[in-house]
Amino acid sequence: MQKCCKGSEVISKKKILLVGGCGFIGHNLALYLSKQGHDPVIVDSLSINNIYSLDNTEILNQKLYKSILESRLELLKKNDIDLIIQDARNYNSISALYEQIKPNIIIHLAAVSHANRSNKDPHTTFDHSLRTLENTLDYAKTKKIHVIYMSSSMVYGNFETKEVDEDTACKPIGIYGTLKYAGELMVKSYNQVFDLPYTIIRPSALYGERCVSRRVGQIFIENAIQNLEININGDGEDKLDFTYIEDLVRGISYCCDNEKSQNETFNITYGNAKKINELINILRDEFKDIKVNYKEKENFMPERGTLKIDKAKKLIGFKANHSIETGYREYISWYKNFWNKIN
Ligand SMILES: NC(=O)c1ccc[n+]([C@@H]2O[C@H](COP(=O)([O-])OP(=O)(O)OC[C@H]3O[C@@H](n4cnc5c(N)ncnc54)[C@H](O)[C@@H]3O)[C@@H](O)[C@H]2O)c1
Repeated sequence: MQKCCKGSEVISKKKILLVGGCGFIGHNLALYLSKQGHDPVIVDSLSINNIYSLDNTEILNQKLYKSILESRLELLKKNDIDLIIQDARNYNSISALYEQIKPNIIIHLAAVSHANRSNKDPHTTFDHSLRTLENTLDYAKTKKIHVIYMSSSMVYGNFETKEVDEDTACKPIGIYGTLKYAGELMVKSYNQVFDLPYTIIRPSALYGERCVSRRVGQIFIENAIQNLEININGDGEDKLDFTYIEDLVRGISYCCDNEKSQNETFNITYGNAKKINELINILRDEFKDIKVNYKEKENFMPERGTLKIDKAKKLIGFKANHSIETGYREYISWYKNFWNKIN
C-alpha cells in the first residue's frame, strides 16, 4: 500500500470500493476520500433513487433532480473517480468485478434508503439492501477485507430516553429499520464465522449538497425556493439529530484510516438533536414569506432524539463540526446557487 499525506499526517493510500457509491452519501464520500489521497472506486446501478429511476419522481422536480444527479457524475469525472455501472444483486458479475478491483476496504451503501418507500415496497427494499450486502460479505469473507456497513439511526426504533448510545437495545419498527438491523446482524455473523473485519455506522437525518432523497431538510428548501407551502408531519416539535454530510463523510474516512474502528459500531451524527421547527427558523432567515402547514404524523416513524457520539470520539477521534446553524445555512446557500445556475 502506498503512503500519502493528509496535512502533516501520513496515511496509507487505500483502494476503497463504494457499493452504491453514486448515491447522496456515496458520491460525497468518494470525493472526500479522493481528496484525502485514497483511491475510491464506485459500483452503482444508478437505478434506485438515481438517474435511471427519475421517471418515478414527481414531474415538478424531475428537471431539478436530473441536473443534481448529472452534477454528481460531472464531479466524479472531474476528480478521476471510476464509476462502474453494475447491479450489485448479480452474484456472478459482481464477484468477478470485485475480484478485478481488488479493494482494501469495501463500504456498503447500496439500499432503498427511505423509510416510506421501504414500507410500500418491502420486496424491492430487501433485494437491493440485503441481497447486495450478502454479495459484498461473501466476496470479502475469504480475503478478510474490512467491510464498512452503512446502517441507520432507525435501528433504535422509538428512543426511550433522550439520548441513545451504541449499547442501547435496538427495537426497530417498520420495514426500513428492521432491514437495516438485519444487515447489522448479517455483518456481525460474518465476523463471528469468518473473522471478517467490519465497522457498522449509524447516521441520522442527513442533509447536504446534491441530495435528492426528499428528506425534510431538502424538501423545505426546494419548496421555499419555488414559493410552495411547506408541510410538516406533526407539530414540528419532534427532535432529530440533523447531521451535515461533511461531518458524516469525515467520520467514515476516520474509520478507513484507523484500525480501532474495526469490529465496532458507531453513531456518526452531530450528536445533539434539534427541533424540526428550529430548521424552519433558519430557513425563514433566508426565505421571509414561507408558509408552513402542520399535518398528521406518518405511521411507523419512530420518536427519535440525540445519538451520542462519545464512542466515535474516544476510539477514532471523531467530532462533528456543523450544527444546523452553520451546516443548514451552507446547504441553503449551495441550493440557491445551484437553482440560479439551472434556471
Ligand atoms: N441519507 C440518510 O439520511 C441516511 C441515514 C442513515 C442511513 N443511510 C444509509 O446509507 C446508505 C446510503 O444512503 P444514501 O442516502 O446515499 O442513499 P441513496 O438512495 O442516495 O443511494 C443509494 C445508492 O445505491 C444504489 N443502489 C441501490 N441498489 C443497488 C444495486 N442493486 N446495485 C447497485 N447499486 C444500487 C442506488 O443506485 C443509489 O445510487 C443506505 O444504506 C442508507 O440506508 C442513509
